[in-house]
Amino acid sequence: MIKAVNLTRKFGSLTAVDNLNIEIPPGEIFAFLGPNGAGKTTTVKLFTGILQPTAGSAVIGNFDLRKNPIEAKSITGFVSDQPYVYPHLTGFEFMRLVGDIYKVGIDEQKQRIPELLSMFELSPWAGEMIEAYSHGMKQKLVLASVLLHQPKVIFLDEPLVGLDPKSAKMVKEIITRLSAKGVAVFMCTHVLEIAERLAHRIGIIQNGRIIALGTVEELKKRARQEGTLEELFLHLTGGSRYSELLELL
Ligand SMILES: Nc1ncnc2c1ncn2[C@@H]1O[C@H](COP(=O)(O)OP(=O)(O)O)[C@@H](O)[C@H]1O
Ligand SMILES: [Mg+2]
Repeated sequence: MIKAVNLTRKFGSLTAVDNLNIEIPPGEIFAFLGPNGAGKTTTVKLFTGILQPTAGSAVIGNFDLRKNPIEAKSITGFVSDQPYVYPHLTGFEFMRLVGDIYKVGIDEQKQRIPELLSMFELSPWAGEMIEAYSHGMKQKLVLASVLLHQPKVIFLDEPLVGLDPKSAKMVKEIITRLSAKGVAVFMCTHVLEIAERLAHRIGIIQNGRIIALGTVEELKKRARQEGTLEELFLHLTGGSRYSELLELL
């Protein structure tokens, strides 16, 4: 459902994504981990057509983003790391706008928008302008809007940032539910516990390159490492140095 072939993106002399090859089948929850600046967000922007690759290709379903961008985007849902919303629309109007962009029929919108707003506990705010929403509420509104057109592929860039525990739990349940329905979920996260609990496979990226790819068990075996994903992650990304640095305090 999600495929990268030699996917590369440079910014000047910096290679943010370096020859990435990856394939994610329907129903898989894939967690993309890596230190700040590793290239996670750039990868997601390449898969969602926000950035063009310097080389290689990004494919969603059977659609190459360069050749069939509209078809690829029409089956994709994207929750970016910042909630991009229009402050002077109401929550309901924003949902209508997104529904129209994705060509969701008006009858379906009339049914699903109230359901989705209710699911995210936004119904009381549906008629309020988004500028009055908190960060978490905006994040939830974007999540609700992304589910409206029933995408086959979902990209979530740090989806739990700014959410209260109840909302975070709901998002985790939604991810599991979507996966059970066959949706491919690509999730960038810093919350290793969530990756460990939810993801079928994990990819670790550093300096634009995948340095580890597999199930948690496979990764641990390869690194001959027992213990938590956090320990494994720090081991693979060279985080052991920070205990030396802590000595300086
Ligand atoms: N628009 C841009 N222009 C220049 N450099 C960028 C741009 N976007 C990202 N980068 C650089 O690319 C690298 C990867 O960034 P990013 O994909 O945002 O990392 P991550 O999401 O893993 O924290 C970083 O070094 C970042 O500074
Ligand atoms: Mg990022």
